[in-house]
Amino acid sequence: MNASPPLPATAAPAPLPRRPIRDLPDELISQIAAGEVVERPASVVRELVDNALDSGATAITVRLLAGGVRLISVEDDGCGIPQDELPVALRRHATSKITNLHDLETVATMGFRGEALAAIASVSETALLSRPQAQASAFLLDARSGEIRPAARSHGTTVEVKELFFSTPARRKFLKSDATELAHCVEAVRRHALARPDVGFAIWHEGKLVEQWRATFVPSQARPGEGSVQDALARRLADVLGEDFVNQSMAVLHRAGPVTVTGRAGLPDAARARADHQYCYVNGRFVRDKVLTHAARSAYEDVLHGQKQPVYALYVEIDPARVDVNVHPTKIEVRFRDSREVHQAVRHAVENALAAPRAAALAAAAPASAPAQTPAGTEDLQPKQPLAQYWQAQAAIKFDERPGHKVSDLQALWQPAQPTQPSPLAEPPTAAPAIAWASPAAAAPAPPAAEAPAWPLGRAVAQIHGVYILAENAQGMVVVDMHAAHERIVYERLKAQAEGGARIASQPLLIPATFAATAQEVATAEECAEVLATLGLEVVPFSPKTLAVRAVPTSLAQGDAVELARSVLAELAAHDATTVVQRAHNEILATMACHGAVRANRKLTLDEMNALLRQMETTDRSDQCNHGRPTWRQLTMKELDALFLRGR
Ligand SMILES: Nc1ncnc2c1ncn2[C@@H]1O[C@H](COP(=O)(O)OP(=O)(O)OP(=O)(O)O)[C@@H](O)[C@H]1O
Ligand SMILES: [Mg+2]
Repeated sequence: MNASPPLPATAAPAPLPRRPIRDLPDELISQIAAGEVVERPASVVRELVDNALDSGATAITVRLLAGGVRLISVEDDGCGIPQDELPVALRRHATSKITNLHDLETVATMGFRGEALAAIASVSETALLSRPQAQASAFLLDARSGEIRPAARSHGTTVEVKELFFSTPARRKFLKSDATELAHCVEAVRRHALARPDVGFAIWHEGKLVEQWRATFVPSQARPGEGSVQDALARRLADVLGEDFVNQSMAVLHRAGPVTVTGRAGLPDAARARADHQYCYVNGRFVRDKVLTHAARSAYEDVLHGQKQPVYALYVEIDPARVDVNVHPTKIEVRFRDSREVHQAVRHAVENALAAPRAAALAAAAPASAPAQTPAGTEDLQPKQPLAQYWQAQAAIKFDERPGHKVSDLQALWQPAQPTQPSPLAEPPTAAPAIAWASPAAAAPAPPAAEAPAWPLGRAVAQIHGVYILAENAQGMVVVDMHAAHERIVYERLKAQAEGGARIASQPLLIPATFAATAQEVATAEECAEVLATLGLEVVPFSPKTLAVRAVPTSLAQGDAVELARSVLAELAAHDATTVVQRAHNEILATMACHGAVRANRKLTLDEMNALLRQMETTDRSDQCNHGRPTWRQLTMKELDALFLRGR
């Protein structure tokens, strides 16, 4: 047996000789600061564009070489820096933006620390070229030599940053390819551009124009939420993120106390696999903030299930004193004095934007049917509610006017599919062709064309394979997934009833429905009797192995009571039944809605189809089913013509 070799003697590290405490040289302090502020070329771009915006620029040009590593030049037409202040601009903690603590607490500019230029100059070759309006000529300051000389330039400032990290090679090693660095630089400008549609931006790389976003005039007095600002914003969003972003999103306009939220929230359909189209701003500053993203996410909870990431651009305006922007070296994080108030405002803003049925907006776009617009400049930031009410009123009037027919309810639709037992409104069963064609007489629900209201989802003309409803509206053709749409309507109705913990209206069954139950089902029914009661259900043990359903929600009275009870018991068992929180509660309601909703392969009459369409027009979130899938699609005449190569 070999003895194990002796372990090498581990020498304890020799204690460092103590050095005296000294002030660090200025240059090193700046380089340390640069470590936090300047991570890559894009950080420099962000800081320089911040400065340009603070200077009141209306046009900003960014020029880059080698992804910004060799050169970043940012040119603006702002207020400029007087000749004698050029050296001060480069000094640490020198700023024109704040002078005391009160200024800091209410700061409205992008910059306030007086650190950025000093930090950038310490890790690059920086030059400032500037001319205020009132100064006869421009002057150029070379940061390294400190030399100032006259130069040629119209009013404004150009900051040139060359050879980034030339003096800190370790840092330079972390940089990625030019293409990647360029992409980050463009993203940095994009974030600014999305907040300032009134400023023009251009980005050049290696002498080629990469992006250009033109300025839109916004009156200087305009406030967030005003028409001109919204229009300018929509245009800029379309320019920067694409037309689809705007077409597939809803305007957000909401004010709650000191918080105003504007912008656009993407429709659930437009959600993406990655969270790369989520832009949040606080007082014009791009931020990454958990409160805001969580609020936005929770607003989508009811319409977007699963992993999909919603898209949005949200602008929070809040009294600067209620938000601390001085919490992160790059100012990308903020701290709200009352994060609850901001969370609620953002959540409601997005929820409201998404709730209004899109069909109403669609019809409102058609000039003939547009309801009165909210006058510009009023405080009413939420025009959608009146719009929904408008349609509700329209639908109610038109239906109630017609003698002998009242579509106040969709009760008929709750009946389970039983072709032999037609609903009171159903046509006599025929040897059903796959498409139930509308006979001229059966088209009665719609009044004569001359006075036909421009129903957003149009009038039903047929049912296809018992799954889809086909309707004709002013724009062309509408296809509706009837189960998905009806499920949402029932769900929203149940939710409205259950609002604020109220019990859902319940109806006793004449003959209780009994069924053979598992031990767990019996146990759950006993444990959760109270929760079941709030859901409008009464399920009691009949024997150790039998349960009896004694009452069901009134709105689901026509459905299969046993199946309903079973699935609700399964849901309750899956959740912690004693603490059925709002979310779980909604899931149970969704399950109930799914049961209550009209099934596929159920033949509907035109009246029933029309009733469903009218309900969709006035039901919140009716554009998606509970799983985020669309409930209807529009095919415009233009799209139909294109399908048939018409007009070419
Ligand atoms: N493009 C510009 N136009 C006019 N003045 C500028 C410009 N860039 C910088 N300045 C002036 O130089 C000063 C220093 O700029 P710097 O970016 O270092 O600090 P800051 O913007 O005040 O604060 P922060 O460090 O938070 O960015 C500014 O306060 C401003 O007065
Ligand atoms: Mg700055």
